[in-house]
Amino acid sequence: MDTDLLPSLAAFGARCAIIAGSGIRSALRARLLQSVPYSALKGWPRTNVPGHGSCLDVCDVAGVPTIVFSGRFHRYEGHPFETTVLPLQLIAQLGITSVVLTNAAGGLRTSFRCGDILLPEDVLDLTLAHRAMGHRFPIDSSWRSAVETMALHAGTRTVGGTLAQVLGPSYETRAEIRMLRRIGADAIGMSTVHEAQYAASIGIRPLIITTITNVASDTAAAEIDHAHVVEAAALAAQRINAVVECAVRLAT
Ligand code: HPA
Repeated sequence: MDTDLLPSLAAFGARCAIIAGSGIRSALRARLLQSVPYSALKGWPRTNVPGHGSCLDVCDVAGVPTIVFSGRFHRYEGHPFETTVLPLQLIAQLGITSVVLTNAAGGLRTSFRCGDILLPEDVLDLTLAHRAMGHRFPIDSSWRSAVETMALHAGTRTVGGTLAQVLGPSYETRAEIRMLRRIGADAIGMSTVHEAQYAASIGIRPLIITTITNVASDTAAAEIDHAHVVEAAALAAQRINAVVECAVRLAT
């Protein structure tokens, strides 16, 4: 990274970091103080997925100094595991100990509706990469339940469940959707699970906030595409913000 950047980012004294998934950054209510393109960070590639930015934003979110990563690196773009965890390594270098991982996912549980906000209690890594060792309980359950309660008091109901991660980039076939349900997945995405596992392995508390952007159906004929996912995240903006703000306020 540019050698001057680390001290100035550290001096900001962020208490929390957010990694913004598909369509989530533009939905976030955050006062932007400074934006650093990933290209200014040594060794960082650009992200090329529509709906994902390519910069690190220094922000005020609900009065809390927060670093927001606009855009993540996916395995399906051809990035190795080491690249996908660059934001988490920077978060650790900045001394930030809590990260909010946001993403979009397909709902597998039949009661889920588009726009529901899932706070996963557990994760299922179907990439089976298992590169971050030793954490069978990556999600911080006390932070998670405090956020659930605060969001509910503020009028936003969230749901619990298990988030699974596949490599992507194609969306699941009907047979895969049936299989995923049977093995206990409630929502399916293409990122985030391994980030939570990696964060926990380097001493950063992860909380996942998943927006259900489509209901994965094993009967409907309709195709799902990335543009739809980004649009659905925008429609859920108010609810996403309500939950993210609770998470950031409760981060320590
Ligand atoms: N499957 C996988 N990843 C996703 C989906 C989905 O249905 N929706 C958003 N991300």
